[in-house]
Amino acid sequence: MTERTLVLAKPDAVARGLVGEIIRRIEAKGLTIVALDLRTATEEVAAGHYAEHDSKPFYGSLIEFITSGPLVAAVVEGPRAIAAWRQLAGGTDPVDKATPGTIRGDFALETQNNLVHGSDSPESAAREIALWFPGLEG
Ligand code: CMP
Repeated sequence: MTERTLVLAKPDAVARGLVGEIIRRIEAKGLTIVALDLRTATEEVAAGHYAEHDSKPFYGSLIEFITSGPLVAAVVEGPRAIAAWRQLAGGTDPVDKATPGTIRGDFALETQNNLVHGSDSPESAAREIALWFPGLEG
């Protein structure tokens, strides 16, 4: 089933020059980029995006990090795009969970600065795409 998912290449990915590598892996997998934008997230978008984490101890630091500089937001489409992108990204903890061959497994060390984000369900994808790309047509 064709799905869409939200992809973020977070500020650490932009700062480290890994955006090209991340996009290359998305395209090599066969997924299609339907929207792509370099921007610095506002506090409002960051808070909306991470609303489910607002009671976590790392929330303040996470908002500071995600708004700290330019990131790349994208919408990616394809068969089972949500799971496919999460497979490419690897587990949230880049050392304990992400395996070599994944983006986090190959390039990240810290759980917060883990380079990329992907929606975790169709409901999250719809919410996150509407938040980051409100004008995007279905
Ligand atoms: P992401 O997939 O964008 O979803 C939530 C983000 O919170 C996660 O990636 C990390 O950047 C961050 N995060 C999750 N767990 C922790 C943690 N234990 N400590 C710090 N940051 C975390």
